[in-house]
Amino acid sequence: MAAIGKALNVDEVKALARRALPRGMFEFVERGTEGETGLGATRLALDAVRLRPSVLVDVSSRRQDVTLLGKDQPLPLVVAPTGLAGLMWHEGEIELARAAAKAGIPFCVSTQSITSVEDIAKRAGGDLWFQLYILKDRALTDTFVERAKAAGSGTLMVTVDTVVSPKREYNTHNGFGIPFKPNLRGTVDFALHPGWLWRVLGRYLRAGGIPTFPHYPPEFRRKITRDAMSEGLRLADDMTWDEIAALRQRWPGRFVIKGILREDDARRAVDCGADAIVVSNHGARNLDASAPPVEVLPGIADAVGEQLTVLADGGVRRGSDVVKLLALGAKAVLVGRATLYGTAAAAEAGAARVIEILRDEIDRTMAFAGCTRIADINRDLIHRLP
Ligand SMILES: Cc1cc2nc3c(=O)[nH]c(=O)nc-3n(C[C@H](O)[C@H](O)[C@H](O)COP(=O)(O)O)c2cc1C
Repeated sequence: MAAIGKALNVDEVKALARRALPRGMFEFVERGTEGETGLGATRLALDAVRLRPSVLVDVSSRRQDVTLLGKDQPLPLVVAPTGLAGLMWHEGEIELARAAAKAGIPFCVSTQSITSVEDIAKRAGGDLWFQLYILKDRALTDTFVERAKAAGSGTLMVTVDTVVSPKREYNTHNGFGIPFKPNLRGTVDFALHPGWLWRVLGRYLRAGGIPTFPHYPPEFRRKITRDAMSEGLRLADDMTWDEIAALRQRWPGRFVIKGILREDDARRAVDCGADAIVVSNHGARNLDASAPPVEVLPGIADAVGEQLTVLADGGVRRGSDVVKLLALGAKAVLVGRATLYGTAAAAEAGAARVIEILRDEIDRTMAFAGCTRIADINRDLIHRLP
């Protein structure tokens, strides 16, 4: 735990996470899909954005507060939905949600979390969003929506970029799946990480069982294996804008569509009545060839930024990455892997450390850039549009 306080940046927290987690688990978080060209492309695209600071501006009083979907928050960040965050630490979702709540930023519960939205709401509090995967079994999908509503989540985020399971070959090689069915490599991997076995898996086992997806009904949960997943549990590959529009009508709260990379789709999101979209390539975990969000963000923000709230994610490891996405049109930025590294390294304290690192780096970037408010961060700061 002491090591987390010494971590100076997200990469150093990642190094702690790599040490803490079995390799299969770390790779599940860290890696991409297929040839994994998307990860590098996303990073390179962010690095290619350069800023042109204004100098001799009085930046002695700097603030990062924003109003997002009608709520004030002190930082322009949202914790992205990440399935299986509860394997980073025992009840990792609760640890992560508590860090988000204390930082005053929203935490988005994944459909595929290890802890239920009800438990997280009860034990972590804060502004809970719920991320929805639409499954072939629409009746089951509706139960997720009802549960999120009943648990008090005011924001539904529908992920639309995951119509089939991505081809992540390393997961197969690592024997990584739910429930665990480790192959020889996976067994050796676990044996080499007794700390994680004791601290995470052991605690789940001692508390009553193998971790699984609590949003799925019991009769389905037992069937969640890669080979024997029932047809209804598969991701829907037949959903269309009409269905999303109907879901928007049924959902009383704020409605966010995640996984938009095109202006025409962004306009359809407006037509559906969405309150926000997330310009996202799912952290380069789904379609390896997808465009880096940072490159398509300006066009999308120009197309729909007046009509709905544009959010973005993908590759954020530094505060300057956040500032770049804000400058290119995002109103706030989602963080996926970075806070997972923190959770894996040191539970709530680790996630809090990552949020603090990003806060500090955003603050310094703003000062260098000549910005005192998030509203000062705009296209004018960009050296050359991507
Ligand atoms: C381990 C992991 C699990 C994820 N699970 C989900 C998920 O269940 N639903 C979803 O919409 N996105 C999921 N994502 C994507 C994130 O919400 C987000 O778009 C992405 O991680 C952003 O990129 P970053 O990790 O570089 O910050 C996941 C990402 C990771 C790393």
